[in-house]
Amino acid sequence: MTWMQAVIICAAVCVAAAERRFPEGFKFGAATASYQVEGAWNVSDKGENIWDRFVHSRPEAISDRSTGDVACDSYHRWQEDIQLLVDMNVDFYRFSISWSRLLPTGFSQRVSADGARYYGDLIDGLLAKGIEPIVTLYHWDLPQPLQDLGGWANPMISDWFADYARVAYNLYGDRVKTWVTINEPTVICDIGYNNLIAPGLESEGRGSYLCTKHVLLAHAKAYRLYERDFKPKYQGQVSLTNHMMWFEPATEQDVELTELVKTLSIQRYCHPIFSSEGGWPPALERYIAEKSREEGEPRSRLPPFTQEEKEMLRGSYDYLGLNHYTTRTVRPAAPGEHIGTHLFDGFKELGVVLGAKPEWPTTMSHWFMVHPEGLRALLVSMKQQYGDVPIFIMENGLSDTGADLDDQPRVDYYRSYLEQVLLAIEDGVRVVGYTAWSLLDNFEWMDGYQSRYGLHHVDFSSELRTRTARRSARYYAAVARTKDIHAQYQFNKTNTVKGV
Ligand code: GAL
Repeated sequence: MTWMQAVIICAAVCVAAAERRFPEGFKFGAATASYQVEGAWNVSDKGENIWDRFVHSRPEAISDRSTGDVACDSYHRWQEDIQLLVDMNVDFYRFSISWSRLLPTGFSQRVSADGARYYGDLIDGLLAKGIEPIVTLYHWDLPQPLQDLGGWANPMISDWFADYARVAYNLYGDRVKTWVTINEPTVICDIGYNNLIAPGLESEGRGSYLCTKHVLLAHAKAYRLYERDFKPKYQGQVSLTNHMMWFEPATEQDVELTELVKTLSIQRYCHPIFSSEGGWPPALERYIAEKSREEGEPRSRLPPFTQEEKEMLRGSYDYLGLNHYTTRTVRPAAPGEHIGTHLFDGFKELGVVLGAKPEWPTTMSHWFMVHPEGLRALLVSMKQQYGDVPIFIMENGLSDTGADLDDQPRVDYYRSYLEQVLLAIEDGVRVVGYTAWSLLDNFEWMDGYQSRYGLHHVDFSSELRTRTARRSARYYAAVARTKDIHAQYQFNKTNTVKGV
């Protein structure tokens, strides 16, 4: 190579490195979920859902004993939310439909006119501003009447979900081109059946696996329905999104165990849909069958798929959705060691305790440590396992106390995680979009309002639920506009916000 060639190559690389720009067509957006922001829990004919029931009947389950009864009041203030999105230059807004707002009984024979109008107005309002709506059908707020019939443990639920999906596709399919059927099966099933979040049942390793199977089938039925009846006219895309932590072995001895953890936590939900052979991941299927036998169970606690179900699930995606926040270390529990029941403390099924490296910064969510490199490793592993599938990051963000509008650590979090996304793209992973969690501070499930993820601060003590941009909102607006993670932006902390 001549020195001139070297200079040219170096110049190209150096410019690229200085800019760190996402490719043309890459989309940026922000997300929320119905129960976390809407409030208006009993307005009009909305039905009760499992979160309404959970927070009202078990206030002690929420750390500050708060509820989502009013939350950000986005049911009334959605136009303000749209303005925030406009100010952030985002391409899309990911929000969810509250099943019981649209179908008050949970069943599809009665559609709420008020619910249909609310989401229709929101969708039209977004489109009028050039923001694409990305709609999640299920973000954890199951209609209570369906829970009373067994919820996700009842095999009929996949049909009820598909009926609901049909109503939503019929109402909004002409305007919504990206659908997320289910948000985070692992949280719905593994945490919902670990007595920590709604519906607050205790059936780990049994109810949780029934739930896993039926959640996946519900997704597949909603996917096939769209594919058959709606895709030909609307050409939209449908998939689901799962919560994927990344895992690293605590020591060299824990490498194999770490692979098994990935099988339980990530592949259990991916293999049936994204692998070429379909069905449960074989290593996991063997492990649980063997363990069930040892425990004297008449059959495996992991319910099998029929051949027909396997076929319906296999390939039921147009993109791979993933939500990512953290990386955890894996080690075996010591003999007799208690494996905590709190979110992501460990996996009793595998006798595994999760930890973290001391150098990974902690956050306001006790399960969440900052390790950006984990996101790149996760993205690369998805490509290695499932091929060249388009990957849509449906959530990523940082929790803090919310105390400071000048949230530099959140800016650093976004920049460092986005840099890892860029590196994964350079590794050849087809990442097509990125979603910041969250547009707003909101009801953070069992942490109530104590843990804040918002690009915008919300004053929950004011009736107006005043929204104020944090530094991170200004940074993200610059990234969305330029696609450059080092983009310049202005932030003046001019407003002093009550409670900040
Ligand atoms: C995800 C969930 C969101 C949000 C976020 C931060 O698991 O989908 O609703 O709460 O975590 O904890």
